[in-house]
Amino acid sequence: MDKRYLRKGGDVVWVNLTVSLAHDEGGAPKYFVSAVEEITRRKEAEAEVRRLNEQLERLVAERTARLEEVVRELDAFAYSVSHDLRAPLRAMHGHATALLEDYAEEMGEQARKYAERVITASERMDALIQDLLAYSRLTRAEIAPQPVDLNNVVADARAQVDGALKESGAELIVERPLPTVTGHRATVTRALTNLLSNAVKFVTPGVKPRVRVWAEERDGRARLWVEDNGIGIAPEHRDRVFQIFERLHSVATYPGTGLGLAIVRKGLERMGGRAGVESEPGRGSRFWIELPKA
Ligand SMILES: Nc1ncnc2c1ncn2[C@@H]1O[C@H](COP(=O)(O)OP(=O)(O)O)[C@@H](O)[C@H]1O
Ligand SMILES: [Mg+2]
Repeated sequence: MDKRYLRKGGDVVWVNLTVSLAHDEGGAPKYFVSAVEEITRRKEAEAEVRRLNEQLERLVAERTARLEEVVRELDAFAYSVSHDLRAPLRAMHGHATALLEDYAEEMGEQARKYAERVITASERMDALIQDLLAYSRLTRAEIAPQPVDLNNVVADARAQVDGALKESGAELIVERPLPTVTGHRATVTRALTNLLSNAVKFVTPGVKPRVRVWAEERDGRARLWVEDNGIGIAPEHRDRVFQIFERLHSVATYPGTGLGLAIVRKGLERMGGRAGVESEPGRGSRFWIELPKA
């Protein structure tokens, strides 16, 4: 038992008191054995550790709150900048288009080319801004997990890349049935749309894209695979490609913003899932996304 006493001068003394009762052979109580140990130092040290711990916790909480605030501000900034950039961009695009439509005769060949470049560049910038907005929205949006039927997701994503599928003459094979997962339908669909558009895009020129989609279930999780017959990714780049703005090719060879896979990974992380890739250069890639089963 720890007990607190006051000395005559008013100082606190802590003692640990142990009392045991000794018995005689017959079992009758005989005498008490008391041990008194002064433990003031230990008590003071314990109090100090407690105080320091509380101080540390307070500090961590304060710093975390400040950091969260900064991240929120940065996100809001990125969002409003991206948003506000679109209006002048639309004006540039609109005026260059008007020039081409109304003054094509007077402008001459070279001037028309310049105007066309303005249009191409503003379209590219618009794609970038839209992807940045999508990425930034992913950080801020509330993502309420719900059962999501992957059959619906595949149908929606397929419809979204329909143009690219037709243009490239791609073959898309979906192996059903597909399971139902726990996630956010729009976010899963966006991820799959990005994977499908990459699968169709990153092929050697002249090769007809062949894309296979199937699911695999294990340990309460479902993994959706997207396999292509494209150019593949070297091992040292496999993690890099999921980072924001990381592209392995020039825009002239393969157009894009470098945000697609970053959106895939961020979206999956927000839903408590994962994304990854297996690939051999020249032998195609197999991208996957994984979510808990519903
Ligand atoms: N299916 C794929 N096959 C080969 N390379 C790929 C594939 N998907 C993505 N990549 C590589 O990863 C990079 C990043 O992809 P992504 O973030 O979707 O950007 P984007 O499609 O705009 O280039 C691509 O530029 C490309 O180099
Ligand atoms: Mg992409």
